[in-house]
Amino acid sequence: MIEVTEWVESNNLKTSEGLFYTVVGNSTVGLKETTDLVSGRYEGGLKLWECSLDLTKYLQTLSIIPARVLELGCGHGLPGILCAQKGSSVYLQDYNEEVIRHVTGNNVIRNGVKDRCKLFYGPWGDLSNLGSFDLVLTSETIYNPEYYPSLLTAIRTSQARCCLVACKNYYFGVGGGVELFAKSAEDFGFSTQTLLRIDDIASTRYILELTPKY
Ligand SMILES: C[S@@+](CC[C@H](N)C(=O)[O-])C[C@H]1O[C@@H](n2cnc3c(N)ncnc32)[C@H](O)[C@@H]1O
Repeated sequence: MIEVTEWVESNNLKTSEGLFYTVVGNSTVGLKETTDLVSGRYEGGLKLWECSLDLTKYLQTLSIIPARVLELGCGHGLPGILCAQKGSSVYLQDYNEEVIRHVTGNNVIRNGVKDRCKLFYGPWGDLSNLGSFDLVLTSETIYNPEYYPSLLTAIRTSQARCCLVACKNYYFGVGGGVELFAKSAEDFGFSTQTLLRIDDIASTRYILELTPKY
């Protein structure tokens, strides 16, 4: 687990839900986002992706938020941070240490939920001994079908009765997409249900619910 202490005051914007997030790329934070992904090295966590805002908005409409929440591939971590603001104890995971330290950590502190969040980094294949969770959240993490087994194993390891996956219809150039992921999840022992479909000019996006059949 990473201890976060840093908040870079000059470097925050606010979403329409009132959550602060760190703007990456200027000299204060010292990180530069020059490409969306470098497979196996940098997995996109510096950027705030659209579906995480969809998931944050969706979570805001729920009257009950579970006690223990895990956000996988959190990047900025806004869905998890919203749950923490509603009282959940939240674990935030990203692939990259620098994302967790300088972006997620900054957002956790700026949004006043440091005491309710635990932050850690590393590949999904390494997740274990975190205890059990009530809810798993994940956004824009299904772009690469090669990662489905480790992502689905991490969801299963969490023992959560519900996982919300915010994603796009299809990820051009990488090959993942909602249909392929839902099929893999079903093969892995989950039931899948579309809770929300969002059509706009740029993309069709979904919030899927996975529940274990086992
Ligand atoms: C496209 S980013 C999405 C970030 C954030 N959830 C959002 O929607 O703004 C994908 C995230 O998935 C995580 N990720 C991708 N592959 C991973 C892997 N094999 N193991 C662990 N995390 C991974 C990375 O941490 C990265 O931040």
